[in-house]
Amino acid sequence: MPDSKQAATILVVDDDAEIRYSLSRVLSSRGYQVIEAASGEQGVAMVRKGPAPHLVFLDVRMGGMGGIEALQHIRSANPRQLVVLMTAFGTAQTAIEAMKYGAFDYVMKPFDPAKVLSLAQNALQAHADLRAVGDYKPSVNPDDYREGIVGSSPVMQDVFKVIGQVTASDVTVMITGESGTGKELVARSIWKHSHRSSKPFIAVNCAAIPDNLIESELFGHEKGSFTGATVQRLGKFELCDGGTIFLDEIGDMALATQTKILRVLQQGEIQRVGGTETIRVDVRILAATNKDLEAMVKAKTFREDLYYRLNVVRIRMPALRERTEDIPQIVDFCLQNLVKQRKARVGKVAPEAMAVLVRYAWPGNVRELENVVYRSAVIAQGDAILVKYLPIEIGGGSAAVPAGAAAPAADLPAALDAVYAAAKASGGGALEFVEREIVARALAEAGGDPVAAAKILGITKAAVQKRAKGA
Ligand SMILES: Nc1ncnc2c1ncn2[C@@H]1O[C@H](COP(=O)(O)OP(=O)(O)OP(=O)(O)O)[C@@H](O)[C@H]1O
Ligand SMILES: [Mg+2]
Repeated sequence: MPDSKQAATILVVDDDAEIRYSLSRVLSSRGYQVIEAASGEQGVAMVRKGPAPHLVFLDVRMGGMGGIEALQHIRSANPRQLVVLMTAFGTAQTAIEAMKYGAFDYVMKPFDPAKVLSLAQNALQAHADLRAVGDYKPSVNPDDYREGIVGSSPVMQDVFKVIGQVTASDVTVMITGESGTGKELVARSIWKHSHRSSKPFIAVNCAAIPDNLIESELFGHEKGSFTGATVQRLGKFELCDGGTIFLDEIGDMALATQTKILRVLQQGEIQRVGGTETIRVDVRILAATNKDLEAMVKAKTFREDLYYRLNVVRIRMPALRERTEDIPQIVDFCLQNLVKQRKARVGKVAPEAMAVLVRYAWPGNVRELENVVYRSAVIAQGDAILVKYLPIEIGGGSAAVPAGAAAPAADLPAALDAVYAAAKASGGGALEFVEREIVARALAEAGGDPVAAAKILGITKAAVQKRAKGA
């Protein structure tokens, strides 16, 4: 254990002197300096007066000010104060309120000393890590990215240039790239900068609409043209007149529909399903796909003539792993937006955590990165994302449960060390001390009933009573 922890101060707030005593004993066995408060009011006053303890253990049920209220006072006096709530009643409400008001974690009474110690160790480590992050200067100011497309890598600079070039005309643009690379974002940006920006932008996901419905969706239908067509309906092309249509996942479009798209591109005309009238539309088409259209053309599943019509200009969106230098900017951008939208309170990222984010390969690209940042910002305690709050799958340290909720098996030797130290310090025989502690826990769990405690431990009632007396 690093030296700094020897000096760590832990405040124990409980109106039960026995709990304060036993908790102090467990904690001081590890070299922590323990100070005590006998009520919520006193605990809050001690935090307000300072110096701030490194960690507070706070009982939920106390006469006078309860733990949840004290937690709120403590956190408003010092938003960074780490607090662990203690409760004998593991109700959903207590757990939810504890986390809502910013507790680091909560622990069940009667205590499992191993859990208390591993919790204290986790919390103090988090305290040190949060301090180490210190001042944080985000790499971007969201106001500079009103487009929403973040990145300054050379590959992204090239993308920006092409966007600029295609906005002046009505040229058809094919946007390719892996899932989550920002294809739709680019399509919207082209539209926003074009002379069509005051007219609609409509995105149609060709993969999400069944083949038998897509034509009606795009071109509309006349009343009675098929079962269920009880009224006439306008399609996206008519609704979008003067604007821009974004045909997303165009590689999933049926060949019959492809033919009709070709007709729009060549003649600017559509026909509603079941209709005979030819309708002129003025719509710019942008398309996107993450399929290999060239291979589909060879396999004759994509029309070659449509392919060339769509592919006048191509924008290839780079995968995130091809532009890792953009990752910190995207992370900061997401975080600041989350804070602005009050979806998260955490605005900083520890350098080690940022390194994990930069190193990961991001098969889901920016969308996956956004999700990871969001999730980590929500579960992070304190004011920074640390490695431990990042998902294990990407190289972080957080499983689905919050940090400290389960004492990992690796902590058992450490816990035994603590028990051993406490036993040695207990005055009486070390083995008797351990036995007494275990029996005391069984009794607490059994609500003081020696018969039930005996059952828990698989010993006789007489053995329980003998050890409880410390004989
Ligand atoms: N360069 C970027 N900067 C900031 N956010 C981005 C960037 N690129 C993508 N995003 C965000 O990532 C998410 C996915 O982007 P988008 O929907 O444009 O990807 P896509 O390529 O269309 O994905 P799919 O192929 O899965 O449809 C969106 O929330 C978008 O705002
Ligand atoms: Mg998309």
